[in-house]
Amino acid sequence: MSAQPNNIPTHVAVIMDGNGRWARRQGKARHTGHRAGVKSVRATVEAAAERGVSYLTLFAFSSENWRRPEEEVSSLMSLFVEALRREVAELHRNNVRLRFVGALEQLSGGLQKKMAEAEKTTAGNSGLVLNVAVAFGGRWDIVKAAQSLASKSAAGKLDASDIDEDMFADELQLAGIPDPDLLIRTGGEQRISNFLLWNLAYAELWFTDVLWPEFDKTEFDRALAYFASKQRRYGHTGDQVEAAEC
Ligand code: IPE
Ligand code: IPE
Ligand code: MG
Repeated sequence: MSAQPNNIPTHVAVIMDGNGRWARRQGKARHTGHRAGVKSVRATVEAAAERGVSYLTLFAFSSENWRRPEEEVSSLMSLFVEALRREVAELHRNNVRLRFVGALEQLSGGLQKKMAEAEKTTAGNSGLVLNVAVAFGGRWDIVKAAQSLASKSAAGKLDASDIDEDMFADELQLAGIPDPDLLIRTGGEQRISNFLLWNLAYAELWFTDVLWPEFDKTEFDRALAYFASKQRRYGHTGDQVEAAEC
C-alpha cells in the first residue's frame, strides 16, 4: 500500500516514541532501545526523501526529557554525538540539509559544536530538509517568540497591535518552513507531549502502536496512505473543497 505521489505531505513531523518499552521487551536496558532507534531514523530519512517529502522534523529529546534519570540522559547525549559522527557524511552524500532546533545552549559544548558543523557541512544541500528537535518544547518555543516580539515592541521597533499570526510564526524555531501536514507518533500514545504546539494546528495525526525501533519504510508508507485518504478542509465544507479542486 503506497500513497499517491500527488498527495505526498510537504512536511512530516515524527514523535519517535517507544524505545524504552522495546528494550524492556527484549530484557535489555533502556539505552539499547535508543541505540536501536537510530536505524529507524535512517530508514525514515531515506523513505521521506524517496517519497518526495520536502521537510522532515524529528523529535529526538524534549524539554521534559531532562527529568529522566541522569544515566539515561547522558547515554542519549553520547548517542547523539556518536550518531552525528557516523551519519552526517551519508546524509551529505544524499543531499540532505540538517538543522537542529531547540534550546541547544542547554547541551554540552561538544555536542553543540558537532551540530553546528553538521549544519555547516550540509547547508548548501538542496534535498530533504531534516530538522532534529533536541531540548525542544512547544511552549518554550512560543514563550521565546513572545519574548522576542515584546523586546522589539519595548524598543519601539514594533507596534503591539501589528503582531499577527505570520509575524508570530516568523519568531518560532521553524520560521520559514511550512507547517507539518502530517504528524506520526509511534509507541501507542495519542498525545503531543509538548512538541510543535503552534505548527501542528492543522496537521493530520497518525498514531501507531509500533515501537520506534521497529518503525520502517512500510510503516512510513502506511502513514502516507492515511494522509492521502484525508480531505483537508481548514474550516471549509467538503463541498467547497471539492469545488475548488475541480
Ligand atoms: C522515545 O522513547 C525516545 C525519547 C523520548 C528520547 P522512550 O524512551 O520515551 O520510550 P518509552 O516511551 O519509555 O517506551
Ligand atoms: C516524547 O516522548 C518526546 C520524544 C519522543 C523525544 P516521551 O516519551 O518523552 O513522551 P511522554 O512523556 O510519554 O508524554
Ligand atoms: Mg516515551
